[in-house]
Order: sequence, then C-alpha cells, then structure tokens
Amino acid sequence: MSIAAKVSTRTKKPHLEIQGGFQLSGDLKVSGAKNSALVLITAALLTEEQVCLSNVPELTDIKAITDVLGTMGVKSSYQGDVLQLQADQICHSDPPYELVNGLRASFFCIGPLLGRLGKAKIPLPGGCRIGARPVVEHIRGLKALGALVNVEHGVVTASLRGTSGRLKAAPIVFDCPSVGATETVLMAAVLAEGTSTIENAAQEPEVQDLANMLNAMGARVRGAGGPIITIEGVETLHGCNYSVIPDRIEAGTFLIAAAITRSKIRVSPVIPDHLNAVLQKLRDAGCSIEINKQAITITPGEIHGVDITTQPFPGFPTDLQAPFMALLVTAKGTSVVTEKIYENRMQHVAEMQRMGASIRLQGNTAVIEGVPQLSAAPVRGGDLRAAAAMVLASLAAKGTSLVEGLDHLDRGYAFLETKLNGAGSHIIRYQN
Ligand code: UD1
Repeated sequence: MSIAAKVSTRTKKPHLEIQGGFQLSGDLKVSGAKNSALVLITAALLTEEQVCLSNVPELTDIKAITDVLGTMGVKSSYQGDVLQLQADQICHSDPPYELVNGLRASFFCIGPLLGRLGKAKIPLPGGCRIGARPVVEHIRGLKALGALVNVEHGVVTASLRGTSGRLKAAPIVFDCPSVGATETVLMAAVLAEGTSTIENAAQEPEVQDLANMLNAMGARVRGAGGPIITIEGVETLHGCNYSVIPDRIEAGTFLIAAAITRSKIRVSPVIPDHLNAVLQKLRDAGCSIEINKQAITITPGEIHGVDITTQPFPGFPTDLQAPFMALLVTAKGTSVVTEKIYENRMQHVAEMQRMGASIRLQGNTAVIEGVPQLSAAPVRGGDLRAAAAMVLASLAAKGTSLVEGLDHLDRGYAFLETKLNGAGSHIIRYQN
C-alpha cells in the first residue's frame, strides 16, 4: 500500500487504533455501574442533606447528569471515585433542553423533583439510535400517584393535585417491566402518603441498588429485585454514604474480551449473580468459568456458536448483545442472535461484515456463520455498546483497525484502552 493510501484510510475523527491478534493476561478491574450511578445521582434530589456516593465511574454521562443537577442548584464535588452531592437549595425544577436532550437519563429527575418539590418540568427525551424508547410507563406511574402530568410542545410538566403537598400512594401495574419507569416511580413514591406497590417491576440489579440507597436514606422499600415492589412512603429522607455496585455490562465486556482473544483473564470486582445469563452463554460457547467471591476467572476453550435472545433481567442483557455477537462471529459453527428489547439494535452487523464476519440479518434476528479470522478495517460504533463490540472485534482481527464512535464509548466505559492495554492489548487513542 502506498503512503498516500495509508493516509487516506486514517480518519480525522477521534478514534482508537487497535492492533489485533494479541493475547491478554492478568486482571481487568471493573468500575461502578453507569446505569446505577446515573439514577443514584438524581436520587440526591430527594434530600436537602449531603449524599456521598463512592465507586462512581468517570464517564461523560456521569459528568452530564451532574451538570444537569448543577443547573438546578445542586452542589457537587467529584474526587477519586467519590461524588458528593447536596441539594439543599434547589433553585428551579426545569433543566434546560440542550442538556436533557443529550442524556436520556436526565428524565430520571422527574420522580425525585415531584416527590420533593411537588413539581417538575422536563423536556421529553427523544428516541435514540437503538429505538424509540417511550416514557409512557413513567408517566402512567406518576399519574397513578396522583400527579397532574401534561405533555406539551415536547415538555413534560408534572405537579401535585390538591393541597396536601404530597403524592398519594397507589397500586401500579406496569404493562412492561421498564427499568427507567420502575426507578422513576420508586423515587416518586418514597415520599408519597401511604403504601404503594409496583407490579411487573423491572428486576434489574440497578433497581435493587436504587432501593438499597433509598433505604439508606430512610425510605421503606421492600421487594426490589423481584417483580413486586412495596414502598411505604415517609415524610422526609436524609443524607447517606453509599457505594455503587460494580458494572455488570463492563464486566461482561471484559469476559468477552478474554474469550475473543482466547485468553485467560480475571475480572473483578463483580457480583457474579448479576451475570448468570452471560456466564451460562460463555460456558455454552466453550469457556471455563471459575467464580471466587467477587472475582471471575475465564479460561476460553475452543469457541463454538450459541443462540442468544435478549430479555429483561435475569435474561441475557440487550446491552451485551452486540459485544457477544463480536465473539460469535469468530466462533465455530452457527449462532442465532435475536434482539427482543430494542427495535433498531443491529447496526453493528454491517460494521462487523466489513471486518469479514458472515452474518445474515432478518429483522431483529442475526444468523451468524463463524469465520476463522476477522480482518482489520476502519469501523464505527453507532451506539455505546456497538462501539464496545467493534473494539472487541478489533482485538481479534488480523491487522490494525480504526474504531470511531468514541463519543459513544466514553459514555459507558471508563479508561477502556488503559485497562485493556494493562492486560496486553495494543490500543492507541487519537483525539482527532
Ligand atoms: C435501561 C438502561 C439501558 C438498557 C435498558 C434495558 C439505564 C440508564 N439504561 O434503559 O442501558 O438497555 O434499561 O435493559 O438504566 N418501554 C416501553 N414503554 C415505556 C418504557 C419502556 O415500551 O414507557 C420499552 C422500551 O421501548 C424498550 C423496553 O421497554 O423496548 C425496555 O426499556 P427500559 O427498561 O425502559 O429501558 P431504559 O430504562 O430506557
């Protein structure tokens, strides 16, 4: 290849340059869970006292949600992995569209604002690349708690009915076990008058983490982690010190990094029960898994195809569908991957095909014939987990890949290339 051709293939956008084909070894350390931390941060709005969160991952999404709270007058300081928040003077309850639009999780503010101040005005989060992602269930839940909720001109306005100054407890049955809706209603109901129940609640570990933090603040929540949650409302909540659970999706990504490079790796800290569905599929694919308290050691054997269908927890997580597909394109035999949570989460297929993967896509089902070797290519991750999947595929590919989409990647993986390089990968970040 001529020098001119080499230059022309290099992207000017921020990217990772990944030399494939190196084995990994040693340990990979897992940060705190992004999806927990995002919601726990908004729970700080529920009290005027100081909330001190530890094991908070250093991610652009975390900075974004802290900025959203900052616009409402919440004071914060972040040092090491400790984030201190104090919402003693909330100056207003309507965060600006520009910030909320960039981060869907900003919508989480609606529950605590309504519970604490009795009012909230939040721009409706838009759809995103992976699907429409409605908030219908969140709004139904808040209405059931007695809130007046109006959606007009793209803004959700919520306020209290009557003069009691508090929401009223209610039995709530969700049509689908939405993680965000369960968390929103949980945060609103902890300060409501009376005892609420949520049926068909999301059972994800992040919901349980939120309930544990709320209980540490003086709330009375039982049953989180199961399908029925009971919330006995209290008048006020106090501050707390709370540590975020390890990120099960980052841990899963690291286990797949080991499997795809056929390397023995120890991943910690993890809560192994949070990864049962993923560990089962890794075993089925030919990996040996050893669990020792908060650590998982994976030793890959010959990797063969397995079928995967994404489901709400405790099923296989949609957030590891794309990363796991990267492994399956290198497996021996056929795999079928079915995406059941999001309507548009197969965009990584075309990028993997550019690296030599053999995938037939029929709607939201991908039929994969494993190939012995992927070849490096310039590729782009169009959403957070697709970007992670392209990094994984690049670790196994022959040659040097350029992975774009770091704006997505940095939303959910703290120091990804530093961590992987510590275990033996060859990744260089270019900011432009
Ligand atoms: C959370 C996670 C995200 C993960 C997802 C599913 C955070 C910040 N994000 O997103 O990483 O991929 O759970 O595990 O925690 N739905 C409706 N109506 C609603 C709400 C949801 O039909 O009112 C549907 C959605 O379109 C989607 C499914 O339910 O198909 C799951 O969505 P949900 O559980 O709400 O996901 P999020 O909380 O947005």
